[in-house]
Amino acid sequence: MQPSSQGNPFSVQGKRVLVIGGTRGIGRAIALQFARAGAEVVVNFVREQEAAESLCVEAARSGLQLHAVRADVTSDKALEQLVTEVAQHFPDISTLVFAAATGVHRKFEQLSSRHFDFTFALNVRAFLALVRLLAPKMSPGSSIIALSSEGAERVMPQYGLVGASKGALESLCRHLAVELADRGVRVNILSPGTVKTDAWNALPDADRRLREAISRSPIGRLVTVEEVALAAQFLACDASAGVIGHTLVVDGGARIVGSA
Ligand SMILES: NC(=O)c1ccc[n+]([C@@H]2O[C@H](COP(=O)([O-])OP(=O)(O)OC[C@H]3O[C@@H](n4cnc5c(N)ncnc54)[C@H](OP(=O)(O)O)[C@@H]3O)[C@@H](O)[C@H]2O)c1
Repeated sequence: MQPSSQGNPFSVQGKRVLVIGGTRGIGRAIALQFARAGAEVVVNFVREQEAAESLCVEAARSGLQLHAVRADVTSDKALEQLVTEVAQHFPDISTLVFAAATGVHRKFEQLSSRHFDFTFALNVRAFLALVRLLAPKMSPGSSIIALSSEGAERVMPQYGLVGASKGALESLCRHLAVELADRGVRVNILSPGTVKTDAWNALPDADRRLREAISRSPIGRLVTVEEVALAAQFLACDASAGVIGHTLVVDGGARIVGSA
């Protein structure tokens, strides 16, 4: 059974949370938000050991329950090892946050089948593999949250392949949301607007696009990783019990602004 929310429907106290891609950017903020709110957290990463270590040190200094496990979740074998390692920390998982993403940012003429496979292997296939492994062990009241982006529904420069993968991820989430609803496991999508993270280092013309995102934003700034993390907490707690298969946009209103 799920830990009790002790009368506070917004509580995530005692939840056991796995954040895939939880050592940098938005995933890191989500991991810290849950841990500060009293959850036990395991974060996963693949390359940047230093980022993982510094997060663990920061968490330990504040007395938070947070561990990091390295695994490339695009590998089925590594995924199984990850699940085994997580089981050493938790008896079961009550919240799965899928924040890892990758992709090749090019125009269609420059995209190959290899780029397609690389992008979809993480953004879609790994998510499905994780849900297949974990959902059967999740108790009623558990929650699955996948990070998507504006590119799932709108056109962005050189984002066709990543946008298509996010569209597929969102569709998959809606199907899973219905398939898992009778087990009491909720699946939702969290779709941030532009957030300044390391991911932007790999994007074409990043500085100009970040400036433009600020100038288009009704709030006159980018949303922060902490704001996205609070929305993730909402999707994981009992207060959102009626929210299923939903895409929660956290973008300061940027997506509703027209062009004229
Ligand atoms: N930043 C934005 O403006 C923005 C906007 C909308 C949506 N989003 C979405 O929000 C999510 C997080 O974005 P972000 O900007 O915070 O990303 P980020 O800073 O690039 O962090 C990505 C995280 O994913 C991990 N990761 C990458 N490949 C992995 C793999 N194969 N196996 C396991 N972990 C892997 C990374 O680990 P290493 O450190 O080891 O590489 C890192 O912890 C993504 O789904 C992204 O599409 C971001």
